[in-house]
Amino acid sequence: MLEGLKIAVYVSGGIAAYKIPDFVRSLIKAGAQVRVAMTPAAEQFVTPFTFEVLTKYPVLRDQSTYPDPVGHIHLADWLDLAILVPATANSLGKLVHGIADNEALASLLACNRPCLIVPAMNNKMWDHPATQRNIDQLRQDGYYVLDPAKGFLAEGYEGKGRMPEGQEILQAVMALATISQQEQRLDLTGQKIVISAGGTQEAIDPVRYISNHSSGKMGLAIAHVAALAGAQVTLVRTPSARDLAVIPEIQLIDVEDAHQLQTAMTEEVQEADMVVMAAAVSDYRPAQVAEQKIKKDKSQVSNDWHLHLVENPDILAGLPKDRALVIGFAAETQDVEKNATAKLVRKGADMIVANDVSRSDIGFGTDQNAVTLVTHQDKRCLAKTSKFQIAWAILDMAQSIQK
Ligand code: C5P
Repeated sequence: MLEGLKIAVYVSGGIAAYKIPDFVRSLIKAGAQVRVAMTPAAEQFVTPFTFEVLTKYPVLRDQSTYPDPVGHIHLADWLDLAILVPATANSLGKLVHGIADNEALASLLACNRPCLIVPAMNNKMWDHPATQRNIDQLRQDGYYVLDPAKGFLAEGYEGKGRMPEGQEILQAVMALATISQQEQRLDLTGQKIVISAGGTQEAIDPVRYISNHSSGKMGLAIAHVAALAGAQVTLVRTPSARDLAVIPEIQLIDVEDAHQLQTAMTEEVQEADMVVMAAAVSDYRPAQVAEQKIKKDKSQVSNDWHLHLVENPDILAGLPKDRALVIGFAAETQDVEKNATAKLVRKGADMIVANDVSRSDIGFGTDQNAVTLVTHQDKRCLAKTSKFQIAWAILDMAQSIQK
């Protein structure tokens, strides 16, 4: 998914540096070409040789022999995307003030491409006003700064300061790579966006449920592109979407069935500027949920078991449309565009993202899809492409809708 992208990973000296070789591997596995720079303090935690074996290229560091005599400029000119990870309070502070007292920082100062900063430090260092001022300044300067995660710190106690997991950072990298490849700028600063993702699970009894093949990947891609474009994002996710990594700044609400999803969406829509119903909602649910597991014995079910289903509420159709822009999805197997246009009107939505689910190479569970975006004013067809590209196109088109 990052094929052809040149990524430079700048490692500074925090304990989370020991996780970076694994992260570098995941970037390479996703198709990126990776080079690494290290501050002298980072070398206390992990050896340059580890990165050299993984990337098959010398690490840019002080006192190193680098293929180019002006290594810091050479690396800055080579990259498409820079990542400072882990970003220590010290390196953040220096970057804010333009201090370039090691090769890695000098290279970052020479970099004019998109840069993702992933801070990781002790919670008290993170909370310090100086660090918070620096973070604000970096954001104003155009850097993309991820929030650290809350959890167990190296100091042996809980706090906000942990480096997000590698898979979470990877989601941010894919979103940022997508955003930075476009000619138009996507700026969602100040917008609150609520996104639902995954397939609902309608309980039959304590061990069985009715569901569908939705993985939640499309909703997750929209959530990450929106968050990296500056939006405040809430993700309402079903169990099938819970294994997918999410960056810490995305607020999570976990639901299981259509009723819980409806409650969450109805509550969240009140403050939202945009709602994206990417979840695949079961149209029907069992009329009754058995309290105990239904046994196969003949007193409870006969050879052919008839399950009585009742209709679920149509969440999208029932959402208020006065404030937030409302976007729905349509999974069709025939007359995709015609059905999507009818759905747009029937559900009172502002946009329908229509896809042809009869194609097995795209859609459910895969990383790619081909869709048509239909609004009341416009239509845009997207040939097979990544779900992150589709997420960008949806958010970009949403910006042009006049409510
Ligand atoms: O009617 P259909 O299921 O094709 O519509 C799909 C769109 O409607 C999706 O955006 C889905 O999230 C939403 N939906 C809903 N409530 C339902 C069924 C679908 O909000 N009960």
